[in-house]
Amino acid sequence: MAASFFPTLEHLATAVILLDGQSRILYLNPAAENLFDASNKTLIGHPLQHVFTHTQQLTTAMQQAIRNNASFIEHDLTLGLHSLSGAHGNVRLQLRCTATPLQANNHSYLLLEFHPIDRPLKLAREEQMLDQTQANRLLLRNLAHEIKNPLGGIRGAAQLLEAELSKPELREYTQVVIQEADRLRALLEKLLTPPQAPHLSELDIHEVLERVRRIVLAEVPKGLQIQRDYDISLPHLRGDKEQLIQVMLNIVRNAAQAMHGRGTIILRTRIARQVTLMRKRHRLALMVQIIDDGPGIPSHLRDQIFYPLVSGRADGHGLGLTIAQDFVSQHHGSIEFESEPGRTCFSVQLPLQ
Ligand SMILES: Nc1ncnc2c1ncn2[C@@H]1O[C@H](COP(=O)(O)OP(=O)(O)O)[C@@H](O)[C@H]1O
Ligand SMILES: [Mg+2]
Repeated sequence: MAASFFPTLEHLATAVILLDGQSRILYLNPAAENLFDASNKTLIGHPLQHVFTHTQQLTTAMQQAIRNNASFIEHDLTLGLHSLSGAHGNVRLQLRCTATPLQANNHSYLLLEFHPIDRPLKLAREEQMLDQTQANRLLLRNLAHEIKNPLGGIRGAAQLLEAELSKPELREYTQVVIQEADRLRALLEKLLTPPQAPHLSELDIHEVLERVRRIVLAEVPKGLQIQRDYDISLPHLRGDKEQLIQVMLNIVRNAAQAMHGRGTIILRTRIARQVTLMRKRHRLALMVQIIDDGPGIPSHLRDQIFYPLVSGRADGHGLGLTIAQDFVSQHHGSIEFESEPGRTCFSVQLPLQ
């Protein structure tokens, strides 16, 4: 019987879940997948309690509906979600819920409709991530600062010691101390560079991409193709050209490095409508996608690549994407990626006034 409902439910804007008599999920429509930020596959067949937390109110609503054999509406329902991806911790949703008992072929079903009162879950998660990222950056800056001072002392002491050494061959050791201190200092400097206010001007994003394309092709002369898929009707953008070049360069370079200089990168530009970036709704935004056909981002790094010092390369500093993300957020934009072996796509969205 469930199947006969699906085609109609499929297109509803309202999030709908259909349960069998044992409160197991038989079906959820795309609006529900979107609201709960989970896919059909991961939820179907599971009892409601395995999927949601804080189900007390929902259970009461369901019992009421069954007892009265009529729709029951709970206007202010709090529902938690078990972290399905494991990445974001538990998230709560504020919902209005209608539970409707249904009968077909001597079987009982329960139809649940959900209307978000608050923001959808996906947004709540993004906000959590944003807060967390900012907190991490601050922690790291403070830590870098704390390390920098004693490091100066260590280097200075090694120099003094070196001046006192009677056997010249012992200098090898003080030199190690001095060089390593210098290396660490250079890294800390990068972490501590004060966020610079962007120099805004009207610019064509394609000029930025063309520049990046030339630079990377000069660095990797053979084996690499960088194709363009531009929407040349895109309006100009107000932004900091140097910063945006750095953003795109860091992403394209990563792609070229991941492919060891052999493969194809596509630079794509599009217009995006009605997007939420940095908690603000924008009618129009510009989207740049950088797509490569390399091996993909190693799965153990996927949740962390925007963090400073996270690198999958032996000689990497793990700052390229951190800096890219900082610059993009100074433009009130967003940066995200999808990755699987054979296709990695970084999407940068920048609001247009
Ligand atoms: N297009 C890509 N394909 C595969 N892995 C990538 C890609 N882009 C980034 N990465 C991974 O993310 C890591 C972090 O990148 P980044 O912050 O630029 O630091 P770094 O390049 O110094 O390692 C890289 O070391 C790499 O493992
Ligand atoms: Mg890099």
